[in-house]
Amino acid sequence: MDRLSPSSVPPSDQHAAFPGGFVWGAASASYQIEGGARDHGRSDSVWDVFCRQPGLVVNGHTGDTACDHVHRYVEDVALMREMNLRAYRFSVAWPRIMPQGRGEVSEAGLGFYDRLVDELLEAGITPWATLFHWDFPQALFHAGGWLNRDSASWFAEYASVVVDRLSDRVRHWITINEPQIYIGLGHFDTKHAPGIKYPFSQALLAAHHTLLAHGKAVQVIRARAKAAPTVGWAPVGKVDVPASESRADIDAARTSTMKGTERQFFTNTWFGDPVVFGRYPEDALKAFGADAPTPEPGDMETIAQPLDFFGLNIYSGGRVRAGDDGAAVPVDHGIGHPRNALNWPIVPESLRWGPRFIHERYRVPVVITENGMTNLDWVHSDGRVHDPQRIDFTRRYLLELRKAIEDGADVRGYFHWSVMDNFEWAEGYKDRFGLIHVDYQTLRRTIKESGRWYAKVIASNGATLAAASGTVEPKPVAVKA
Ligand code: FCB
Repeated sequence: MDRLSPSSVPPSDQHAAFPGGFVWGAASASYQIEGGARDHGRSDSVWDVFCRQPGLVVNGHTGDTACDHVHRYVEDVALMREMNLRAYRFSVAWPRIMPQGRGEVSEAGLGFYDRLVDELLEAGITPWATLFHWDFPQALFHAGGWLNRDSASWFAEYASVVVDRLSDRVRHWITINEPQIYIGLGHFDTKHAPGIKYPFSQALLAAHHTLLAHGKAVQVIRARAKAAPTVGWAPVGKVDVPASESRADIDAARTSTMKGTERQFFTNTWFGDPVVFGRYPEDALKAFGADAPTPEPGDMETIAQPLDFFGLNIYSGGRVRAGDDGAAVPVDHGIGHPRNALNWPIVPESLRWGPRFIHERYRVPVVITENGMTNLDWVHSDGRVHDPQRIDFTRRYLLELRKAIEDGADVRGYFHWSVMDNFEWAEGYKDRFGLIHVDYQTLRRTIKESGRWYAKVIASNGATLAAASGTVEPKPVAVKA
């Protein structure tokens, strides 16, 4: 797969459900799957240190071994191939490449990603590399972390090392993953690493620096990449869906999806507006007053680099209707509404309205960089992992995504989260998001039924989504007259 092809291209197969060139993939992140915490001279990230503090992660789990992907990547890529993945989104671990975060480079660390990329290309799978998926080097945390304005330059230095090494073969780049979460949960709430409660103004400053880091990394990629790059980022897609398709409800849902005035970080516009428009949103600036950062001259220009795609990680959503004055009124999903194992409501329409609203606002092609569900899967006595809920979830979400495209949103790809079960941050290993089951005692992998189902969806470019979910056709039940 070369550059992203526009979704206006007619489907190559007239029965295909999705536009020709649509990218079908799955995603992972370094700390969640790699293990090998001390391999290649890797040093601690803020997550290694966070996990060692009692009580912060469920059952005291850590990413020390995780899925042992650093030693099993050959087998893992073979399984990805079996699932027909056309693209694989992985992240590079900053402390594996630069153990102190800057300066000295680990040749062994780079070598691992070199081999992974070669293995993927050999298997016909396009690598999509994320530069930062939360494993911030602990050494740099001691130097002030994202609170230090120099963090943007540290990140640019690291980005240049990775780009110099991989960009002859990697053409798809994602700068940062979900700043809303690592700033919000890591620097304001204390649920994620580094787990420090900073005053709101300081957390906003950390956010400003992380946006600068994004902008500088885009500049580095464009200036140094050997093969023409396609560059994007992967923020959280926070979505409110309309309770009905009335114009008023849709407008209310759009407004509330784009609202950013609450003093928290779960917002689209505080991060998206600077990245695309080069300015913070007016409503939030007004609400945050003196707590908002004061950008230095040139900052906003650095942050707003042209992007080839706007990634969106979407799992769930709220539901709203228009009140009498047109303002959004929350609508309960209802008693017994389906939920995943983390209790997140299942809202397939979020994959229609999220990309639509974001595309309408920012006019940048959208790629769904994460979507999936956690489930309590196990290997059944027949040796297979039956996960009909995940199949049904994915089918429903993908059908809604197709509606977004029909509605006119320019959506270029979909990455399922996750390629395999992994370390789900503060939830440890209790949650299973994978298309591949991982037995953490033996590290044995088993492709789940959902993985086999997804392989068919990919092979048909989405056309098989039209069939009812599940891999087994129900036998007609004989009814006595
Ligand atoms: C997202 C993260 C990803 C994974 C999923 C379930 O917020 O980017 O690493 O944990 O949620």
